[in-house]
Amino acid sequence: MGVAEELEAMRREALAAIAGAIDLARLDVVRVAYLGKKGSLTGILRGLGSLSAEERPVVGKVSNEVRQALEAALEERKSALDASALEERVAADAVDVTLPGRVRMPGREHLINMITREIVDVFVGLGYQVVEGPEAELDYYNFTALNHPPAHPARAASDTFYVRDLSCDGVDATGESDVLLRTHTSPVQIRTMEQVKPPLYVIAPGRVYRRDIADPSHLPQFHQIEGLVVDEGITFGDLKGTLDYFCKEMFGHDRRTRFRPHFFPFTEPSAEVDVSCGICGGDGCRFCKGTGWLEILGCGMVDPNVFGYVDYDTERYVGFAFGLGVERIAALKYNIPDLRMLVEGDMRFLRQF
Ligand code: PHE
Repeated sequence: MGVAEELEAMRREALAAIAGAIDLARLDVVRVAYLGKKGSLTGILRGLGSLSAEERPVVGKVSNEVRQALEAALEERKSALDASALEERVAADAVDVTLPGRVRMPGREHLINMITREIVDVFVGLGYQVVEGPEAELDYYNFTALNHPPAHPARAASDTFYVRDLSCDGVDATGESDVLLRTHTSPVQIRTMEQVKPPLYVIAPGRVYRRDIADPSHLPQFHQIEGLVVDEGITFGDLKGTLDYFCKEMFGHDRRTRFRPHFFPFTEPSAEVDVSCGICGGDGCRFCKGTGWLEILGCGMVDPNVFGYVDYDTERYVGFAFGLGVERIAALKYNIPDLRMLVEGDMRFLRQF
């Protein structure tokens, strides 16, 4: 085969290879094979010198044509591949603007915190100040200074969680730990009175603990809000007016309150307060167990013995105190049949509020 035929065959083969290159990398391999420094066409062009004087111009001309043809074909194929590579990238990166957005579920305040805030707000509106105390509390503040006798049943290890502090002996004379998880927010009364002199108008929200098994109406950990007022000339009438106002603010102005005699070691006289049932309006229904009333808090006039523990002048000052359960208020306000629902974290329940 003469050089001219060889060139012709090379052209066909090269054009076919160019057309068949499926990406830019493979196209470049084809380019190097024919037109690179060691490429086959380059080899022929280099060998021109050894040809005869007649062959040289003919072969030179055809070689140049073939080179131009290959270069043109390479160029064309390259832009075609460029375009399809771009198309592919565009397709891969495409954003489907018709897809619905991802719904983000923002967190929000838990019902218990919401109710706590509402209750605190009512009293802040009356000029009360918010105070707090520790959840791990001394027996002295939780019981003794609140006028509980040493053998009071609430002190039993079956009712109260005792904390053993391993870094110190934390054990009182009877061998019991004197550190416990507070069973009510009332110890904050003592801590506050130790710090400030009357007049005093404070509200103390917080977590409390009792050794109860969780059931529809009990939780071993729940929330209370304590109120304490100490001033000159305070009467039981002030207590009644304050709590009646609170109930109307919290539950609605059509609600009535009733005070039933009760007993707490640290108040005298003491009472439990009922609010008229919001379901039946006081006629009696299943929700209020036929009584027309729902119990919502405990209260009373501060026992002078308690003032004795904090050196308040019992001749000059009188006080009242009250304590309410936040979970119970939430349950009454929203007809929640089981307090455990408040701590289970079930979104179907929590989303309702
Ligand atoms: N601490 C009482 C309880 O937990 C409630 C209470 C508070 C009663 C203040 C009277 C005064 O049951």
